[in-house]
Amino acid sequence: MFEDLLRSWDGEEVALRFDEPTGTWMFVCVHSTVLGPGGGGTRMKVYAEAADALRDGLRLSAAMTSKNAIAGLPLGGGKAVLAVPEIPQGEERRMLLLRYAALVESLHGTYWTACDMNTSPADMDVIGERCSTVLGRTEANGGSGTSAPATADGVFVGIRAAVEHAFGSASLVDRTVLVQGVGAVGRLLAESLHEAGATLILTDVDEARASALADVLGAKVVPADAAIETECDVFSPCATGGVLSEETIPRLRCRIVAGAANNQLGTAEDADRLAEREILYAPDCVVNAGGVIHLASLEMLGEDVAKRDERIRAIADTLTEVFELAEREGISTGAAAERMARARIAAGSAA
Ligand code: NAI
Repeated sequence: MFEDLLRSWDGEEVALRFDEPTGTWMFVCVHSTVLGPGGGGTRMKVYAEAADALRDGLRLSAAMTSKNAIAGLPLGGGKAVLAVPEIPQGEERRMLLLRYAALVESLHGTYWTACDMNTSPADMDVIGERCSTVLGRTEANGGSGTSAPATADGVFVGIRAAVEHAFGSASLVDRTVLVQGVGAVGRLLAESLHEAGATLILTDVDEARASALADVLGAKVVPADAAIETECDVFSPCATGGVLSEETIPRLRCRIVAGAANNQLGTAEDADRLAEREILYAPDCVVNAGGVIHLASLEMLGEDVAKRDERIRAIADTLTEVFELAEREGISTGAAAERMARARIAAGSAA
């Protein structure tokens, strides 16, 4: 099974290890180092089969190659998966992370890691004890703190660029934006949208959280299961992936989709479905890159906050290029983003 998966993958290398004390499979997938070391987080998750974990790692590392390239970062794409029998805690977790750190360190800088599903800045501190290629540690240990504000800033400038493309003006006054999920990113995004004069609709499975923020911002709240069918100018998914599918796209009542959530499309064809409905889709890999920009800029490239913010603002220009390329070529914005990423990688390999 591993062999079939690896043969059908177009990436560079996979380091794998079975951690006997915890029964954990470790997969470090380095998809591309053309533009720089493979960068991407460490996911810890329980899978039915080890092969499912490897499949996830291979797919997600390829997505990181595109995301980092299109963000203009000197980073390739990578992702690591720790397929645990159950989420470990305490000393068992610490020892597992230290053994995993030694595996990453043995790759001599080919892979840079960070937080992902079920891994935290405190885990990055532990990994950092044995490994020099780690981003996203706690501030006490030299990390740059939460990436949520940078992600929210990137989504905000992305929404303005999409509104300008769709309506001819970037002004958010009298534009209605529905923010789905008002957690770390969604809350900050909603605050910026409010300041810019947008009319806000908020939703969250935690209704009390949505209502509390709505009271502060003078926003309307809709139940979580009504979000897809709620009329708005911009639908901004900031909760979970897979919200745009064959089943949901026909029910959308918006002109634009632009949000922070990773992997918003159920399948690549869903980008075409959105285009057929003339809904302008801001590809998530472009619009939610503020988080990785924050980490790479401040911790890896040694840049200051001004340079980081310049990179985040550039998300708007990249997105406009994506929209224009899609129109010129008659392709979906998802396909256009992928094409731009490939062109940047090709230019990098020629340089
Ligand atoms: P979070 O966990 O702080 O917030 C998510 C919010 O969505 C929570 O309030 C939760 O109750 C709500 N939620 C969950 N399922 C929902 C549903 N079906 N309908 C409505 N609300 C729902 O997460 P965070 O950090 O704000 O991230 C949001 C999304 O953005 C995630 O998909 C994450 O992967 C993605 N992202 C986050 C980045 C970051 O820097 N934090 C960077 C890039 C992507």
